[in-house]
Amino acid sequence: MKILVTGATGFIGKNLVPKIAEKHKVVCFVRKTSNTHELEKSNVVFKVGDLLDRSSLTDATESMDIAIHLATSHKQGNKQDLVAAENLIEACKENKVKKIIFLSSMAAKRKSLDDYGRIKLEIERMMRNSGLNYTILRPSVIYSNNNLSLIGRSLKFPLIIPVIGNGNYKLNPVYIDDVTEAILRSIKSKKADRKSYDVAGGESISFNEIIKICKNEFKINKPVIHMPVSICLLIFKIFPIVSPEAVKGINEDTNADTKNLEKDLKLNTMSFRQGIKNVSL
Ligand SMILES: NC(=O)c1ccc[n+]([C@@H]2O[C@H](COP(=O)([O-])OP(=O)(O)OC[C@H]3O[C@@H](n4cnc5c(N)ncnc54)[C@H](OP(=O)(O)O)[C@@H]3O)[C@@H](O)[C@H]2O)c1
Repeated sequence: MKILVTGATGFIGKNLVPKIAEKHKVVCFVRKTSNTHELEKSNVVFKVGDLLDRSSLTDATESMDIAIHLATSHKQGNKQDLVAAENLIEACKENKVKKIIFLSSMAAKRKSLDDYGRIKLEIERMMRNSGLNYTILRPSVIYSNNNLSLIGRSLKFPLIIPVIGNGNYKLNPVYIDDVTEAILRSIKSKKADRKSYDVAGGESISFNEIIKICKNEFKINKPVIHMPVSICLLIFKIFPIVSPEAVKGINEDTNADTKNLEKDLKLNTMSFRQGIKNVSL
């Protein structure tokens, strides 16, 4: 099959592309400024363009069977992701692409939606209403052998391990190989057509428990300091690195349901306790 990947140079893309390139013809849609160095080791073709430029997408989607949409601007409230998704959908329609696989996020299922979650939810709606065949995958927080995401940021903080709020909120961190496997199986499986799946780790676990496991695994002796949400909101008002909705959302349990992922795609994801054995801090 011929597969177009947007966001190929990102965290998930770099892990995914070498795996799909073993079985399919892969075209990576990259920007002029994208660093393609790592991807050049795989047998792939590059198409230079920008998701905000519809004509470059019309050109890139020509004769493609599937488009995997990973690209995101990641900026809170950045509506460019909506324009990008619309451009991709229209280009796929024009060139009769058989399916889009869209990487949404568990953030789209939160009660207190931040802008990121809101935009993901809106793009999900656009995919469902596009008339195209689609699979939507909603990963929870993803970690890999060298990237522990927000957990890693807490662990690497100088002198203490800061935790937003009481840390009792439950997460389902998911290992990168399970995310790439969910994408690979969505390419093949007809059962995944016009469906949405939560892609989360095989265990719901509190942030406090995660920190305890990591302290033990990496022999870290720093004390854990719980930061009241009100203080975090104040800090992030001065240093707007996290939006207020995201701080509130962080305190919400991740309500992931992986039953359909197991049923349709036969994918049983790893628990954090298993996955952490692959990680070096
Ligand atoms: N990482 C996670 O923990 C996580 C969890 C849940 C969901 N997700 C979702 O999974 C998807 C992939 O995440 P990621 O962590 O791999 O993202 P990432 O590392 O931030 O990569 C973003 C990618 O998007 C590309 N991009 C951004 N704007 C573009 C534009 N206008 N035109 C073309 N390409 C553009 C970037 O290209 P450049 O190289 O040129 O910058 C980069 O390749 C995202 O939709 C994200 O929301 C991620």
